[in-house]
Amino acid sequence: MKNILITGANRGLGLGFVQHYLNRGDRVWATYRDKATSLIKLESTACNPIKWDVTQALAETEQQKLPHEINLLINNAGIYGSKDGGQSLNNVSEEELLKVFKTDAVAPLLLVQSLLPRLKRGKATIANMSSKMGSASDNSSGGVYAYRAAKSALCIISRSMAVDLKSDNIKVICLHPGWVKTEMTNQTGLIDIDTSIAGLTSVIDNIDNYSPGAFVAFDGTVIPY
Ligand SMILES: NC(=O)c1ccc[n+]([C@@H]2O[C@H](COP(=O)([O-])OP(=O)(O)OC[C@H]3O[C@@H](n4cnc5c(N)ncnc54)[C@H](OP(=O)(O)O)[C@@H]3O)[C@@H](O)[C@H]2O)c1
Repeated sequence: MKNILITGANRGLGLGFVQHYLNRGDRVWATYRDKATSLIKLESTACNPIKWDVTQALAETEQQKLPHEINLLINNAGIYGSKDGGQSLNNVSEEELLKVFKTDAVAPLLLVQSLLPRLKRGKATIANMSSKMGSASDNSSGGVYAYRAAKSALCIISRSMAVDLKSDNIKVICLHPGWVKTEMTNQTGLIDIDTSIAGLTSVIDNIDNYSPGAFVAFDGTVIPY
């Protein structure tokens, strides 16, 4: 039975991870921002909702709910940013760039920093949810500056973490969930949440098959940075 912390877990892929690990018999700490409606509906005593906007420091009262050791951290919370041309070369603003960067790249790093003692005690795996849109090699269509840059930064952050934390027996992987039907894609993805989660959790279980900080898709394919 593992202690698992998942951010952005009241909907979408985050909620899918929660359901998967609860079904497996693990204990889950699941973060939400506003109301924990979907998490409460799960009616599981193994599910511990934690109120946390990942761009803010965690309140002391919520911090006390976290387990002494964490075995798996999934940095899942993320935002895409503007969708209607707001991320084009002509339109993208400093405000937009910084907002997406703060949520998608800075927050996962600071979260690991703040949880380090717990992660070390748990000899944890850290899974950072990036996107293929953060792959420089895969970028042939351009645009989407804020989201691409932030997810790309999360890849290099994952690689540095993997190197820095190896001696603490902490393993790090960077994930691409596929194009999934969630609110982020307005339900227009190619695959459903269950398919993505089945693949991602298998990749996490088999992390030793990949190099430290590797960027891996839900189907096990390694994505070049
Ligand atoms: N869906 C895809 O096709 C796809 C593809 C590539 C990568 N991804 C990545 O996969 C992850 C999950 O995406 P999704 O498709 O499940 O998206 P989603 O349905 O939009 O869910 C995003 C989650 O992140 C949370 N979140 C956003 N900003 C936050 C903040 N400041 N603090 C705490 N939580 C915050 C949201 O919480 P609220 O409910 O409070 O808003 C929500 O739980 C994201 O990192 C996304 O970039 C998704």
